[in-house]
Amino acid sequence: MKMKAAVLYEQGKEHPFTETKPLVVEELDLDPPGDDEVLIKTGAAGLCHSDLSMIAGIMERKVPMVPGHEAAGVVMEVGKDVTQCKVGDHIVMSFVPICGECEYCITGRPNLCITAFNARATGALVNGNRRLSLDGEPVYHTNGVSCYAEYMVACQDSVIVIDKDVPMVDAALFGCAVVTGVGAIVNTAKISPGSTIAVVGLGGVGLCAVFGGVLAGAGRIIAVDIADDKLGLARQLGATDTFNASDADCVDKVVEATKGGVDYAFEVAGVVEAMQTAYSITRRGGTTVTSGLSHLEHKFEIPHAQLVVDERTIKGSYMGSSIVRQDVPKFIDLYRQGKLPVDKLRSGNIGLADLNHGFDKLARGDAVRQMLVMHDEFDA
Ligand SMILES: NC(=O)c1ccc[n+]([C@@H]2O[C@H](COP(=O)([O-])OP(=O)(O)OC[C@H]3O[C@@H](n4cnc5c(N)ncnc54)[C@H](O)[C@@H]3O)[C@@H](O)[C@H]2O)c1
Ligand SMILES: [Zn+2]
Ligand SMILES: [Zn+2]
Repeated sequence: MKMKAAVLYEQGKEHPFTETKPLVVEELDLDPPGDDEVLIKTGAAGLCHSDLSMIAGIMERKVPMVPGHEAAGVVMEVGKDVTQCKVGDHIVMSFVPICGECEYCITGRPNLCITAFNARATGALVNGNRRLSLDGEPVYHTNGVSCYAEYMVACQDSVIVIDKDVPMVDAALFGCAVVTGVGAIVNTAKISPGSTIAVVGLGGVGLCAVFGGVLAGAGRIIAVDIADDKLGLARQLGATDTFNASDADCVDKVVEATKGGVDYAFEVAGVVEAMQTAYSITRRGGTTVTSGLSHLEHKFEIPHAQLVVDERTIKGSYMGSSIVRQDVPKFIDLYRQGKLPVDKLRSGNIGLADLNHGFDKLARGDAVRQMLVMHDEFDA
């Protein structure tokens, strides 16, 4: 079938993207789903900082590709071997497909699925197939999702069935921002009630970490960002204290306010400076968790002896260490109870033609989560 999609032909273009135009709307060919694949009508797709990093070339990918990894949609067609979903189901996409068979999947760590990791570098679906093309030339997939497109063909390993009462523009957020941010708190760190936490970087993912802190009963939630409006929003969403990281005394102020630092600090900005801040405000015996994805070559230095004598822990958190088939429905239940008000993270809906402008806004820090909506019936 023919469909409209955004294509990234070249990584590394700088913003303003409205001038350099890294994303081009094209009419692509989408092949029908194979035996273990599904055709999905895209309901909504989020603009996450990881997409911005792919455009900027901070994360290397095979191009030309259709970007986008945070999405929800409706199943239109299924291959003959599909058991995970049926036509008409509403689904959230998992940006790590779950092969179910590798050493990570079978030991309860599907977010580290090695089959998915290997497929990502080739720009194919997790089963090795490619379904996108333009004039007979290949166009690659992003993390098995590629949701900046009216339709997606994905492996059943990439879909999580959800209830039908969740608006697509909210549901999409559960595929990345929610599992990553809330998951870092409840799965990676497993914070105990009453503990003092800090979240450094308050975009869509960081604000979900603030939600996670509230849910897990953190005693104090310290929010840190370089933008004052993000600090204000974090306060509305449950942060108890806010500090601006551009203030040269920021670290000292947090350490003083917490009498020695926080029990858990979460880096969610994706820059080494933020990791430095997060590590420096973690108390003796405490844990620093990082979800941010900076440039592959960037390094973070730590004083070796301090790590030992302070018994510090540093943990990476990918996809919030989530088991998505279990966590997404659980988090959606919390949303329904009003405990995960993800709608407050939305910064308006946009169309395919507005994507370059949308990424300029994200790069400038002028938006939290803008949602791409390509079919009128999902424009909530
Ligand atoms: N680990 C994962 O599985 C995973 C999943 C999704 C996103 N990510 C990564 O998480 C990071 C955040 O994503 P997002 O979509 O929320 O981004 P975003 O652009 O919406 O938010 C980033 C925030 O960090 C702030 N910031 C920048 N520099 C800072 C500094 N030095 N100190 C404090 N705050 C600073 C910005 O002002 C902004 O509010 C990105 O690096 C993204 O690639 C990781
Ligand atoms: Zn993301
Ligand atoms: Zn696997």
